[in-house]
Amino acid sequence: MEKLWAGRFSEASSTLLDEFNASIMYDRELYVEDIEGSIAHANMLCEQGILNQEELTSIKKGLSQVKDEIEAGTFVWELSDEDLHMAIEKRLTQIIGDAGKKLHTARSRNDQVAVDFRRYVLRKNKEIMSLTHELMTAVHTVASKHSSTLIPGMTHLQHAQPTNFGFHLMAYGSMFKRDFERYESSYKRNNISPLGCAALAGTPHNINRKSTADQLGFDSVSTNCLDTVSDRDFAIEILFNISMSMMHISRLAEEMILWSSYEFKFITFSDAYSTGSSIMPQKKNPDAAELLRGKSGRVYGNLMSLLTVMKGLPLAYNKDTQEDKEGVFDSVKTIEISLKILRESLLTLTVHEDNMASACKVGHLSATDLADYLVEHCNIPFREAHFITGKAVAKSEELNIDLSDISFETLQSIDERIQENVMPYMSVTNSMNARTSEGGTSTVRTIEQLEKFNQWLNENK
Ligand code: ARG
Repeated sequence: MEKLWAGRFSEASSTLLDEFNASIMYDRELYVEDIEGSIAHANMLCEQGILNQEELTSIKKGLSQVKDEIEAGTFVWELSDEDLHMAIEKRLTQIIGDAGKKLHTARSRNDQVAVDFRRYVLRKNKEIMSLTHELMTAVHTVASKHSSTLIPGMTHLQHAQPTNFGFHLMAYGSMFKRDFERYESSYKRNNISPLGCAALAGTPHNINRKSTADQLGFDSVSTNCLDTVSDRDFAIEILFNISMSMMHISRLAEEMILWSSYEFKFITFSDAYSTGSSIMPQKKNPDAAELLRGKSGRVYGNLMSLLTVMKGLPLAYNKDTQEDKEGVFDSVKTIEISLKILRESLLTLTVHEDNMASACKVGHLSATDLADYLVEHCNIPFREAHFITGKAVAKSEELNIDLSDISFETLQSIDERIQENVMPYMSVTNSMNARTSEGGTSTVRTIEQLEKFNQWLNENK
């Protein structure tokens, strides 16, 4: 079959080049966007008197048949057609004859790929936002049950101060909210129609870009054709946004893996989200969480890949740009399943509150509270209070007890300014609840945070 662009050629292209040059194996993912873009373009050409009504009707009928064939699996995808744009146009012309040959008036494939791919990315932006929202709802559900469940807060992966599990989970809630807002802002920034830029410089035909933009749901029309046909910022943005989401997911996945180990035993994954070992019969492995952690690698790779493809590209369209799609398809698929898996894993895991609470009784988690007491009640400068508390910690280690179990007598033997009213400060529950500053871990502040978050979830459905 002769290529649509074969007019100036006297020799057929090599099959090796056909294989190298083609994107048809994967860009068929864009068929809905391509057909909708063609319908909008044809409608506009008719409005402008470039196509007559009969031609328009026949183009639309033909395109609808093409769509049916693709969906029924009877459409023949041929490598020699190079990409979906040419495959669809060729088939349209086979079905409707000469009117099909007029569809490409005042547009180019550069136009088509720019509009198709941008609309695909915008659609996926929305889908990912809604999956992120579902994940956030699950985080809120689990966190709401645990606003007084003690868990050791850590820095350097060492016990630091007592917090509650709801507060800990809501840290991830905050990350996912930022992710959601990032997709939202990318959507707004990129919802601009590229259609009508033609090859690079616009067209002498009397087209109406606002008409196609309106038909396709864009907010406005792009300003500079040269930029527009080779702009892939929208694709890089979604790759970055997905990378950021996966980074957050991988952090939670890592904590879940640690928490599910025998050493921590803070949570147990449901059997549905765990796997076994082929050799060790006793094993129950957190493969789901490990993959959530590991898949950030390929997603970062896709981002770096497209940034590198675009680096130094002269204006305007270059075939390098065809390398934009596979990484985006892969990252989109990866984030979509990851958001679902994380949501399900969270909703089905068991929380071992007792183990979390016992872990708060090691590592002298109330040390900062003792120092704060010395400042507040004994008028001791913080630096000195820190030193005295250090002595109390050393004494506890010597006695082989946790600081929260130290006796008043022992404390007074360290510094006689310490009074009996110190004792409530030593309790880890009180320590957690003492952190009442805005955004702090106290149950009261955690509940306040949960309420605000829930309100946001309802307003952003
Ligand atoms: N398959 C191409 C791509 O994905 C479509 C654009 C081709 N344009 C061109 N001038 N060769 O980028």
